[in-house]
Amino acid sequence: MAISVRRLAPTFAAEIEGIDLNHLSPPDLRTVKDAWLAHKVLVFHDQNLDEDGLVNFAQQLGEIEIHLRQSRTTGRREVMLVSNKTEDGKPIGRLGNQELNWHMDQIFMAEPTAGTILYAVEVTPEGGHTWFCDLGAAYDTLPADLRDQVDGHQAVHSASTADRRVGIQLSEAQRQRAPEVIHPLVRTHPLSGEKALYFSLNHTARIDGRSEEDSLPVFEQLREHATRQQHVYEHHWRVGDLVLWDNATTMHRRDPFPNHHARLMRRVGFNFPVDRRVPF
Ligand code: OGA
Ligand code: MN
Repeated sequence: MAISVRRLAPTFAAEIEGIDLNHLSPPDLRTVKDAWLAHKVLVFHDQNLDEDGLVNFAQQLGEIEIHLRQSRTTGRREVMLVSNKTEDGKPIGRLGNQELNWHMDQIFMAEPTAGTILYAVEVTPEGGHTWFCDLGAAYDTLPADLRDQVDGHQAVHSASTADRRVGIQLSEAQRQRAPEVIHPLVRTHPLSGEKALYFSLNHTARIDGRSEEDSLPVFEQLREHATRQQHVYEHHWRVGDLVLWDNATTMHRRDPFPNHHARLMRRVGFNFPVDRRVPF
């Protein structure tokens, strides 16, 4: 089957058809990698991946990262379950059914995860849509007053900030693995060279050298600009969808959904080649 790539939003995100991620030929892999760099968010439909298949796909894109919050004891350790389902009264996965505010994944690490893969096993008929925004386009179109507040400035990030803002708890051991880190507020993508805004409403504590109180209104202005309709793609899930996104140039959020509907996603993160992770 011929491969087709279709743009989903004005500046980014694309749907790829004609690729079976269980059987990627070397040219298919090249197509996926090139398209990922070009479009930042890729959507594949009708995939049929078990945990081994998902890990195998992710490994071809980069070294797999085990999430700081991973605590799973069954199945492949590389795969995190994102779900509101329970077994014997205990959650089988993470993130429940609540809204997730705009963020990127693991920005609070010294060498943050490059890409995240989310694969839909069970979807909800209502809510649970995942939204992405293009932080490269947002940076390019930033008004001058906001540009002055980010160019040449850095921000402080930590997992504990998310604990405070979102109400999720890290264990003491996890906290020790994730001290505060500082990254530039404008990040240059290590492979494409594109400049993009780099902050997360969940994890970015403050602009370096300014108080949190002073910084939050700036983040809110950046968020408002970055999530205008022309910078956003909203994904409505079908079973078998796999979405692969770039955490260096996009942010994402999730709509809440009613807890009586079961949602189950498998998630894997991977990083850039070792010599491309930092500095940025
Ligand atoms: C994540 C995430 C969104 C979703 O797993 O990092 O943001 O739609 N998930 O569940
Ligand atoms: Mn996320």
